[in-house]
Amino acid sequence: MAASACCLLLLVSLLATTAAAANYSMVARHEKWMAENGRKYKDAAEKARRFKVFKANVERIDRFNAAGDKTYRLGANKFTDLTDEEFVSRYTGYSNGSVPSTFGAKKLPGFMYENVSLSEGDSQGVDWRERGAVTNVKDQSTCGCCWAFSAAAAVEGIHQITTNELVSLSEQQLLDCSTQFGNKGCDGGYMQYSFNYILAAGGITTESAYPYQRVQGSTCQFTGEGVAATISGYQEVPLKDEDALAQAVANQPVSVYITAGSLQFKQYMGGVFTGDGCDQNLNHAVTVVGYGVDAAGGGEYWLIKNSWGMQWGEQGYMRLQKGQGACGIVSTLAPAYPGNTYM
Ligand SMILES: *[C@@H]1O[C@H](CO)[C@@H](O)[C@H](O)[C@H]1NC(C)=O
Ligand SMILES: *[C@@H]1O[C@H](CO)[C@@H](O)[C@H](O)[C@H]1NC(C)=O
Ligand SMILES: *[C@@H]1O[C@H](CO)[C@@H](O)[C@H](O)[C@H]1NC(C)=O
Repeated sequence: MAASACCLLLLVSLLATTAAAANYSMVARHEKWMAENGRKYKDAAEKARRFKVFKANVERIDRFNAAGDKTYRLGANKFTDLTDEEFVSRYTGYSNGSVPSTFGAKKLPGFMYENVSLSEGDSQGVDWRERGAVTNVKDQSTCGCCWAFSAAAAVEGIHQITTNELVSLSEQQLLDCSTQFGNKGCDGGYMQYSFNYILAAGGITTESAYPYQRVQGSTCQFTGEGVAATISGYQEVPLKDEDALAQAVANQPVSVYITAGSLQFKQYMGGVFTGDGCDQNLNHAVTVVGYGVDAAGGGEYWLIKNSWGMQWGEQGYMRLQKGQGACGIVSTLAPAYPGNTYM
């Protein structure tokens, strides 16, 4: 009796020591992560609260990577002390999947790329970065205006393709000036509304002339001067048709809506993401700047330019599984692309 009680005690204290050691190394990981990400907390209570979230996320990431049974990897990044809910509310860009009634008012009918035949090379893969049509990855920070970044990237793309000039364009102009076109600043918006605005405003100026402020300004600073790119209209890609999306992407970068709510999406580090944990409730906007087939056997993917800085994913990009409707791509809100002279 005495012996077993003693052994039980020993076991309990061993387990406690192991748990404390695990805690200690998690504390060390959190401290290291805080230093790497320049994170400071306002007080000890906030730090303890954030540590708990960090620990839970890291444990989920470690379990996921240890299983090693997926075509993608997760890792700690600047979002790792946020819960999934906090992450969605801060870093995506509101849209609940229903299409507003005025949405496509200015859209041009048809789908101009439907019969364009692709070269053998382009049917294998396209990467608009290699062709100089994609600016550096930007960072929307905690303003839910992914829609402005997606719209600007699509215009940057078609502008480079038709003029041979790559110019970084102003998301802040879209953020400050397109509210009356249906966008809601940092609470979300749509690329279609942004294209309507750019059409009405007579163009969009450069990033450097009207730089990003991470919040919506109280007034629109665009006066009509300093236009760097114009559009002549936009079209949509038919819904639920990833082949049609490829037809469009082979010709220019395209704005798309997706869902970006899951732990896996938040902590995505690289590989072909299969959409695990994504529901069909669209809440984010990105730009498709290519597609291809993964050399490591992960299958076909879309090359997605995100607006969460270079530290997330593959230097700011995600390769998202193609052909399976992953993360709601092409599901209920149509991808859209602007045109300029030829549309
Ligand atoms: C680990 O840290 C958490 C949060 O600070 C604390 O609540 C818990 O008691 C610690 N566990 C151990 C075994 O030290
Ligand atoms: C979804 O969006 C529509 C249009 O903006 C709005 O009327 C509706 O209330 C929203 N529904 C939810 C559940 O948020
Ligand atoms: C594509 O081809 C079909 C069948 O010939 C035709 O009806 C359609 O108008 C064409 N689309 C475009 C954009 O040219």
